[in-house]
Amino acid sequence: MTRGGGRPGPRPGGESDARRHERLGARERYTRREFVHGGEGSASDSDAGPRWLFPLPELSAEKLPEWMRDAAFTGYLAARGFLPELLADLGVAGGQGPEHLVFGDMVFTPEERPVFWTQNVWRGARLLPAPSIGQAARALRDVQRNWWPHPVRLARRAALVAEKLPKVSAREHVFGVPAPVAPLGSFTLWDETALIAAAECSSPFPDGHVRFVEDRISAPSRAYLKLWEALTLAGALPRPGELCLDLGSCPGGWTWVLASCGARVLSIDRAPIEERIAAMPEVEYCQGSGFGLEPGLAGGPGARVDWLCSDMACYPARLLELVTRWLDADACRNFVCTLKCQGEEDRATIRAFAAIPGSRVLHLSHNKHELTWMLVR
Ligand SMILES: C[S@@+](CC[C@H](N)C(=O)[O-])C[C@H]1O[C@@H](n2cnc3c(N)ncnc32)[C@H](O)[C@@H]1O
Repeated sequence: MTRGGGRPGPRPGGESDARRHERLGARERYTRREFVHGGEGSASDSDAGPRWLFPLPELSAEKLPEWMRDAAFTGYLAARGFLPELLADLGVAGGQGPEHLVFGDMVFTPEERPVFWTQNVWRGARLLPAPSIGQAARALRDVQRNWWPHPVRLARRAALVAEKLPKVSAREHVFGVPAPVAPLGSFTLWDETALIAAAECSSPFPDGHVRFVEDRISAPSRAYLKLWEALTLAGALPRPGELCLDLGSCPGGWTWVLASCGARVLSIDRAPIEERIAAMPEVEYCQGSGFGLEPGLAGGPGARVDWLCSDMACYPARLLELVTRWLDADACRNFVCTLKCQGEEDRATIRAFAAIPGSRVLHLSHNKHELTWMLVR
């Protein structure tokens, strides 16, 4: 696919994207990230670049839908590889409709709607005239200080605009340090005369990706990054002495995170956990099913659990039943649960999770084909 036009082109293996699309056929195959993303690393405005799921709209700024030209609108950056799921969340199909427009890995709509498969929501997005690099940078600076470029096309030009803006730190985040509070806007170049910018984004991290200073030595699996991210976004950590349940804990990444915070952890999995994690003084490991534990019995009769964490490989509907029992019994304060999504049939369950008062469902940048439900109070 050539940059900008978004048309299929030859792949290194000789097969064109068009042939491959035809051969793969099934819709879910298109969720593979190779078709949906690829904005990064595309330094040039002319060489072969990302292969988007839909060809980039070739509209000049004047021909944009009226709702994009005349008023503020909402942008959603699709979770990496999950543009079809985002479109399903929005209840729209195809690259363009009366109420949506796909632009690379972004979807624009006139109003904000509740969605799950997004990495960053751009609120109050606007089309701004940007006939030169200097004018683009000035237009952004006039709105606020911090901007992050999200190039879909004209990547080199977008980088030149960013160079003229105050530097935004993209340093890796240290777990335990609060998430940044300074507003971070996002922009993308629509064409050589206009850009789309949103001063307010749902994530304080660039493109909604939380890159951590990782611990590659102590953590028993990379799953710990999900819990690090969830706790960072929730702005809360288990405190020393608090009681945590970790259901589906093997090989021990989440248990290691909770115990490293100084909390007491009852760690349950049908499979054995790493010995050195089970040996941590804060950890009590039980081999068995996370569904077997009755609310009110963990930590002794009447003890209230402070955190119920579940990364169990299980059907979301079954997890909802478990969570509902714990909520009804008022037996736990905070919840962080991974929803392992199987497909379309989970949509109603995901909505039911999101409808639990005070909670939210989101796609963490360290989630794969899964979402995270959090209730932190
Ligand atoms: C993605 S892994 C969890 C990774 C873990 N959070 C970590 O940080 O290392 C999913 C786990 O769920 C466990 N599991 C599946 N069904 C379970 C059940 N009914 N009860 C307890 N654990 C279960 C599996 O044995 C598996 O270890």
